[in-house]
Amino acid sequence: MAVNSNQPRDSFGSKFGIIAAAAGSAVGLGNIWKFPYEAGVNGGGAFLFIYLIFVLLIGVSVMVAELTIGRAGQRNAIGSFKALAPGKPWFLVGMMGIAAAFMIFAFYGAVAGWTLEYIYQSIRNGFAGKSPEDLSQMFTEFTTNPARPIMWQTLFLIMTAGVVIAGVQKGIEKYSKILMPLLLLIILVLIVRSVTLSGAREGINFLFKPDFSKVTGHTIISALGQAFFSLSLGMGTIITYGSYIKKKENLLNTAVQVSLADTLIAVLAGLAIFPAVFAFGINPSEGPGLVFITLPNIFQQMPGGYVFSLMFFILLAIAALTSTISLLEVIVAYFSEELKMSRKRATLLASSGILFLGILCSLSQGPIAGFKIFGLNIWDFLDFTSTKIILPLGGLFIVIFVGFVLGRKRVTEELNNEGTLKARLLPVVMFLIRFVAPIAIALVFLNMIGILKIT
Ligand code: PHE
Repeated sequence: MAVNSNQPRDSFGSKFGIIAAAAGSAVGLGNIWKFPYEAGVNGGGAFLFIYLIFVLLIGVSVMVAELTIGRAGQRNAIGSFKALAPGKPWFLVGMMGIAAAFMIFAFYGAVAGWTLEYIYQSIRNGFAGKSPEDLSQMFTEFTTNPARPIMWQTLFLIMTAGVVIAGVQKGIEKYSKILMPLLLLIILVLIVRSVTLSGAREGINFLFKPDFSKVTGHTIISALGQAFFSLSLGMGTIITYGSYIKKKENLLNTAVQVSLADTLIAVLAGLAIFPAVFAFGINPSEGPGLVFITLPNIFQQMPGGYVFSLMFFILLAIAALTSTISLLEVIVAYFSEELKMSRKRATLLASSGILFLGILCSLSQGPIAGFKIFGLNIWDFLDFTSTKIILPLGGLFIVIFVGFVLGRKRVTEELNNEGTLKARLLPVVMFLIRFVAPIAIALVFLNMIGILKIT
């Protein structure tokens, strides 16, 4: 079935819907799983400080640029470039984005699947009485199992597809409007629990008092990568969502609000986690196992831990779901608009591709761990290529496109809604888009490549 081109394009129905969907995309495992452990490894407050600077100077600019491309182009991540720069190779930036969506969903969906296993374990009180070593072993046994993670990952993909198939307004927007407030509520309850534990103070200090001695070149690269990943930038997610935003909405405000909401949730996640980590005398630099090994250990010792554990893993699953929805939508919008497929077919096709790559990712934790590409297992290879290369590079091209190719007049019209908005921030944002963001991204990127050569 072909798409009827006379049908009006689906769009977000309300301002709250836009923020919920875009913040839903941004807020995810990146905030609640990755941010706390990256901060933990990279000196707590120091990482937060550098991260904030990147969000303000680069993140917001790239987000404005993506929203501009999407709303001006009125199509998916590839189609929008084609519409705005016909006959030019800019659409390749969108292509990279679609590829990144497949890659990110593959490993991200695997972790999302883990959250379902941990919800299940929370329900059956599966952490009770286990020593830290037992919990660590439980995690390893589960993640290296050839079948179980794949089962959960598949279930998670089906949930995601169910929402995306229902459409932009009746699927993505509707669920985001329910899930995002729920997420905020759960995180607030968890914070109250965490900061009222005795010894919590130290965790709060860790998060807000910077220890710059831990800052290295690696910290800076991680902070930039994390800013792109966490804000869902550089691969067309926000272009796609931007294309569903009506002409009357204020894009500058939207970008600022979404970036702030995302950062706030990352900080809140830190506040829910670190005070508890310190209260139980655990080392905060546990790395990726922080939420799957360290936290269950804490939950089973803390009063009310059964409920808080369940709440925490539900929180993680919700955060992941609104993000996987946006990853899938990037591909589905492209398949349905450019390749003229029905939404249903596009979703099924995209999901099958994701499932295939996703299974490889899961297996790379166990049975096929020995299979390496450039010395990395499949998971790490996809993670590295998408997050560390495509996102920053995509972001760089996106700001250059909006800053120098699209034309000042066109961009201004898009950002001040053809003169009906004041858009006081416009000159500042334009300066950031044209100069600060590209130079900063390029510097960090070159530095990274240099570092790669050394190691
Ligand atoms: N921003 C999401 C997170 O922080 C991940 C994501 C990246 C989603 C890129 C969409 C696109 O978890």
